[in-house]
Amino acid sequence: MDRLGVVVPDVPAPGIQFRDLTPVFADAAAFRVVIDAIAEAFAGRFDAVAGVEARGFLLAGAVAYATGTGLVAIRKEGKLPRRVYREAYDLEYGQAALEIHTSDLAPGARVLVLDDVLATGGTLAAACTLLERAGAVVVGCAVVLEITELAGRAPLAGRTVLALESV
Ligand code: PRP
Repeated sequence: MDRLGVVVPDVPAPGIQFRDLTPVFADAAAFRVVIDAIAEAFAGRFDAVAGVEARGFLLAGAVAYATGTGLVAIRKEGKLPRRVYREAYDLEYGQAALEIHTSDLAPGARVLVLDDVLATGGTLAAACTLLERAGAVVVGCAVVLEITELAGRAPLAGRTVLALESV
């Protein structure tokens, strides 16, 4: 393991190189560096943190706690019990949809969106669209690792995107 995580070949499909960042989260010092860096980069600019299922939750909980803000869980489809906004998107390997409750955000809330990896950018773009549909102002996105060859900043054009590391 290094700060760029562990590369797992052919997961979840042949030809895909999966970047597993769970060892970074498991390392207390590394996790603290990640959380502090994100919190400092956007200090004073957000009222709530949104985490994308699943590993974005790990970052969002810690950043929200560290900064005294609330947390919105952006979930894969079918998980939330009340009325939702839904946004379908393309993944590097397949399709999926994200959902949030329609009532979990105050109108005009400034939201920072967190996930572990930026690959094609489809996930974060869908997350931003969802939040804006709910009346939030997306102030930026932050990830631990950006896979630059997949051009994930393209669907996020015009948005502030912080990647702590890139490959
Ligand atoms: C991974 C990763 C990001 C997303 C990035 O999640 O955690 O959420 O892919 O890909 P993109 O930039 O090409 O959209 P995954 O879809 O594997 O879901 P999981 O976290 O539930 O395993």
